[in-house]
Amino acid sequence: MNIKIIETLQKKEKPDWTESLGFGKYFTDYMFTMDWTSEEGWCHAQIEPYAPFLIDPSSLVFHYAQETFEGLKAYRTDDDRILLFRPEMNARRFANSNRRLCMPVMDEEMFLEAVSAIVAHEHEWVPNAPGTSLYIRPLMFATEAVLGVHPSNTYKFMILLSPVGAYYPEGMNPVKIYVEDEYVRATHGGTGFTKCGGNYAASIAAQVKAEQLGYTQVLWLDGVHRKYVEEVGTMNAMFKINGRIVTAPCNGTVLPGVTRDSILHLLKDWGYEVEERQLSIDELMEAGENGLLEEAFGTGTAAVISPIGELNYKGNVVTVNHFQTGLLTQKLYRTLTDIQWGKIEDTWGWTREIQKPSLSKK
Ligand code: COI
Repeated sequence: MNIKIIETLQKKEKPDWTESLGFGKYFTDYMFTMDWTSEEGWCHAQIEPYAPFLIDPSSLVFHYAQETFEGLKAYRTDDDRILLFRPEMNARRFANSNRRLCMPVMDEEMFLEAVSAIVAHEHEWVPNAPGTSLYIRPLMFATEAVLGVHPSNTYKFMILLSPVGAYYPEGMNPVKIYVEDEYVRATHGGTGFTKCGGNYAASIAAQVKAEQLGYTQVLWLDGVHRKYVEEVGTMNAMFKINGRIVTAPCNGTVLPGVTRDSILHLLKDWGYEVEERQLSIDELMEAGENGLLEEAFGTGTAAVISPIGELNYKGNVVTVNHFQTGLLTQKLYRTLTDIQWGKIEDTWGWTREIQKPSLSKK
């Protein structure tokens, strides 16, 4: 790919990495942009200053939400290398999302090249304070300026970068989860398995409701019976019930999370029985009431591993592990993040090093 670089006139001051970075509040000096047209295919790849840009108000994305995105992170190791974590899985999921939304499917290599190029260019923005990383947000949206409902003939692909800390203000402390029994997130045949903005737009009403009730996130139930547990707002959900790990299967309505997949690999490797199956909310609440629900946690790129300390379903409240982070949750968090930050050997081959540009080239 031929990437044009447009220099910025003024670099930003970087935040203090040791201060609370939060999530998605700061953006780096540059972003990656590329266009797609039905005549030319992918074109105009460039790294340009991060800034607002002009877009026609009748662009299809504003009206019919033809938009997809991804989320992955770059990590700085103690010996100053920059690592990505399983970026090929994001490339594959991005392709699946785009296929479902009738958007151009970018091949895996091109996605990886674009991500590597912008992260290498912005390597100084990968923070080094404990628990911090550079969040990478690739996105694609329909830019054709027309109001008929049909697939756009033009698209823009971008990659934004944001140095981040913990997603939840709770950090590694347990979060309270409200089990949503009114709104639904996904049904079979829909877009639940994709990462598209529309899924999140439709989830906001439930999120607002949960927050008003004092909860951090919602746990979604299936869209047909409102019975089976699916996922939490920004993460997949896992439950340790009587020694076994239970999580919803990825059968079209659940997001196939990269962290989810990695955690399932670790658990199986450690000899845990893992059940990817339908788990009814009644079974889950009953396990909570009988003391069989030993731990619960969410997994996600932004959320990493987030312990769940409380579930509220129709006013019945179950506290998990006395609202303490369980030992397995802690071990999973430590192992996963140790691999991501290059602190232990990556026997899985999950990390991919980014080559920083030499000083003479920058
Ligand atoms: C991620 O974990 O990367 C996500 O995309 C979740 C996000 C909606 C904050």
